[in-house]
Amino acid sequence: MADFQTVARTGDIPAGEGRAWPVNGRMVAVFFIDGEYTAINDTCPHMGASLATGHVEDGGVICPWHAWRFCVRDGTWLDNPTAKLRNDAYEVRVVGDEIQVLVPDPPSHTPPTDSPEADPAS
Ligand code: FES
Repeated sequence: MADFQTVARTGDIPAGEGRAWPVNGRMVAVFFIDGEYTAINDTCPHMGASLATGHVEDGGVICPWHAWRFCVRDGTWLDNPTAKLRNDAYEVRVVGDEIQVLVPDPPSHTPPTDSPEADPAS
């Protein structure tokens, strides 16, 4: 079961910017915006750019490759907020000077019942 993991210390992320760390099998972008830490999946759902390297303004990060914008708090795709497409967002807390994120365990792989993986004899 996932638990909070320390990714950085306060002061490691300049105000108004983001940085990315591997957590629980994926890259997580942590932002320090208006005195608050937030975390979303670092991998842009369009073509995979690192969102932590994007410019942040008005609570949204602008993807450095094609300029899609995502909310740094909840992962909403700000260019089309009613779309099903969104990015994952994660809980963040600060304990002492440690910035910690809670990233769910990746889904376990269960092969379809008609897959050769499901029957080792086939
Ligand atoms: S890779 Fe992010 S907008 Fe294209």
